[in-house]
Amino acid sequence: MITVPVELGARRYEIDIGRDLLGDPQAWLPWLAGEQVCIVSNPVVAEHYLPQVREALRGKILVEHLLPDGEQAKTLDSVAAIADTLLAAPCDANVTIVALGGGVVGDIAGFAAACYQRGVALIQAPTTLLAQVDSAVGGKTGVNHPLGKNMLGAFHQPRRVIADIGTLDTLPEREFRSALSEIVKYGVIADAELFGWLERNLDDLLARRPEALEHAVAASCRNKAAFVIDDERDRGRRALLNLGHTFGHALEAATGYGRWLHGEAVALGTVMAAELAARGGRLPKADAGRITALLDRCGLPVAPVAEPTTERMRRHMRVDKKVRDGQLRLILPAAIGHAELTTDYRTEDLDAVLDQFCTGATA
Ligand code: NAD
Ligand code: GLY
Repeated sequence: MITVPVELGARRYEIDIGRDLLGDPQAWLPWLAGEQVCIVSNPVVAEHYLPQVREALRGKILVEHLLPDGEQAKTLDSVAAIADTLLAAPCDANVTIVALGGGVVGDIAGFAAACYQRGVALIQAPTTLLAQVDSAVGGKTGVNHPLGKNMLGAFHQPRRVIADIGTLDTLPEREFRSALSEIVKYGVIADAELFGWLERNLDDLLARRPEALEHAVAASCRNKAAFVIDDERDRGRRALLNLGHTFGHALEAATGYGRWLHGEAVALGTVMAAELAARGGRLPKADAGRITALLDRCGLPVAPVAEPTTERMRRHMRVDKKVRDGQLRLILPAAIGHAELTTDYRTEDLDAVLDQFCTGATA
C-alpha cells in the first residue's frame, strides 16, 4: 500500500492506495468521527462493493443511501434525499458520510457532507480511475444546476481517501481509458518523470497490472495534492489542472453531452492545446508529438473529428469560466512537465487549430 499525504494544516489527510482496502476494518476505523456511518453509493457500485464495506464496518450504526447511477443524479434533489435519510435515521453531527463510488457519487455525497448540520466528516472511497486520480482528492464537491455543470457546491476536504485499486477490475474499459487522459495531464503540466514512466509502462497500465495501477494512482495523487496544497480554493495555480478542458468542455457541449466521455473530450482538447502551443513556438513540436502519441496509445481521440463545427466550438469557448474581460485564457504546455495559464497566443493560430480539428460542415 502507498500512502500519500495532503498537507493542508488542520484539514490534513492521507490517501491510501492499494488492494483489498475496502474490506479491511483498519482502513476505516481510525477515521470515523463517531459510531454512526452513512454509506452513499449507487446500485452498480453497491452490488460489487457494499457487502465488503458493511463487513469492515460491522458493529457501527450503519445507514445506507443509494443514488441513481449517472451524471443526471448530480442534482440538489439528490442532496436533499441524502439529508432525508440522515434525518430519518436520525444521524447526529458525529456521523461520518462515506462516498463509495465514482466522481458522481463522490461529488454528491461530499456536498451532502458539507451541508448536513453545516458540515460532517467525510471519507472518500473512490471506485473509478477518474475518482482515484482526481475527483476524490482536493475537496471540491457539488452538483449541477440546469443552467450549468457543477454550479452549486462547496469545498469540503475528506478525512481520508481510501483508493482500493482492486475495484478497478470491474470498471468498464471505456471508463478506464477515458480517465487516462487525467493521468497524462499531470505528466504534461507538472511531472515529466510521470510522463516518461507512462510512455514506458503504458502497456502494463492498460493491462491493469496492480503495480502499474498503484504507481499511476499514487503519482497522480501526489501531483494533485501539490496543486491543492498550493491553491486549495482554486484562485490561481490549481487552474492548470484544467489543461485541455476548455477545448474539451466545448467539444462536449457542441456535440451534445453524452456523445463523448469527459476524459475523451479532454484528450482531444489536450492535443488541441499542444498544437496551439506548438504553432506559437511555445512548445517544441517534438513534445506536442509525444503528447499526441501517448494519448493515441491510450486509445483516446487525437485526430480531427467530423463534428462539431469550428463556429459552434468558438461559441462554446466564449462562455468558458476562464474568460476575463472578454479574453479567453488558455492552459498551454511549454514543455513536457510545464504549462501556463495565458492569453499570449495568436487568435489566428486558435482559429487554425479549430479549423484543423473540427471539420463539421454546418453550424
Ligand atoms: P461516474 O461516477 O459516473 O462513474 C462512471 C460509471 O462507472 C458509473 O456508471 C458508475 O456507476 C460506474 N462504476 C463506478 N465504479 C465502478 C466499478 N468499480 N466497477 C464498475 N462500475 C463502476 O463517473 P466518474 O468518471 O468517476 O466521475 C465523473 C464525475 O466526476 C463528473 O460529475 C465530474 O464533474 C466529477 N469530477 C469532479 C472532480 C472534483 O474535483 N470534485 C474532478 C473531476 C471530475
Ligand atoms: N479537477 C480540478 C480540480 O480539482 O481543481
